[in-house]
Amino acid sequence: MNVIRRRGWEIPERLATPAHLVFNRRAFLAGGASAMALLPRAAAAQRVEDLAKLADPTADLYPAKRNEKYVLDRPITDEKINDHYNNFYEFNSSKEVSEQAQLLPIRPWTVKIDGLVEKPFEIGIDDLIRKMTLEERTCRHRCVEGWSMAIAWTGFPLARLVDFAKPLGSAKFVRMETFTNPKVAPGERMTWFPWPYVEGLTMAEATNDLAFMATGAYGHAMSKQHGAPLRLAVPWKYGFKSIKSIVRFSFVEQRPKGYWEALQSSEYGFWANVNPAVPHPRWSQATEEVIGTGERRPTLIFNGYGDYVAGLYKGLENERLWA
Ligand code: MTE
Repeated sequence: MNVIRRRGWEIPERLATPAHLVFNRRAFLAGGASAMALLPRAAAAQRVEDLAKLADPTADLYPAKRNEKYVLDRPITDEKINDHYNNFYEFNSSKEVSEQAQLLPIRPWTVKIDGLVEKPFEIGIDDLIRKMTLEERTCRHRCVEGWSMAIAWTGFPLARLVDFAKPLGSAKFVRMETFTNPKVAPGERMTWFPWPYVEGLTMAEATNDLAFMATGAYGHAMSKQHGAPLRLAVPWKYGFKSIKSIVRFSFVEQRPKGYWEALQSSEYGFWANVNPAVPHPRWSQATEEVIGTGERRPTLIFNGYGDYVAGLYKGLENERLWA
């Protein structure tokens, strides 16, 4: 079995089906007679998405006030485009996961906090969200595959959750874990993948103000394909670090091994900071395709967030910081 051939960014999706063709086809369908033929199905899918948004018991918290400290150098990606260009391998390895992802039940949703903490505990997602103060933040997102978007997330700094968890001084890393539910997530039935999806940060990264827990996007509770009800957004790192639909935070002493590192450690590592000067072993990282615009622009070191995070990596120059 060759797991390497199955990964999305081995043969980037946009090479298999170029994004502009996908979007052009959408525009054509939306405008033409064929749109009428597809309407019942499209309308049904739209209804499922609308229901998912309405049913959220924290819906009253959106939209939250924008934190103006974080500004973008590009327009926010259109929500409709972002809703249909996702990586969520629990469902499938194409970019079109939105329909399948709607099957994920996100209430009740319990988050477990354990490991090196004063007292391990579990908390329901709605109680957790209401203990935090939500804000909106606009962030760039750079996938290791060479594409990017800009998103208006809503959520709270991960540092607030770390405080709430009361970790012990011996905790060096936060390990995060996605749900396991192979009944609704067909990707998880593929046993050659190292489920559950796991990612980790050092305590210094996790308590940096840029590390954000997103619960919403585009002014409402988050769509399931984006990782509802709780996902990480670490915009200075390649997108695979931003783990979706988290059920567990463990405070640990050993560096956690992430999902992609577990699959292919020669290509994906722990730090995964964005750097245009360090190519992926099989492609350049110098530029990125801005999804939805057809534009290709130069990639920035730390995805443009060096002022906030470069200091985290002083003294670590010998580590593999850029994969
Ligand atoms: N989290 C989980 N649980 N499963 C995944 O497949 N994909 C990652 C990351 N988080 C992934 C995940 C990758 S590779 C990227 S680029 C981003 O989610 C994509 O986020 P988006 O779909 O909101 O753009």
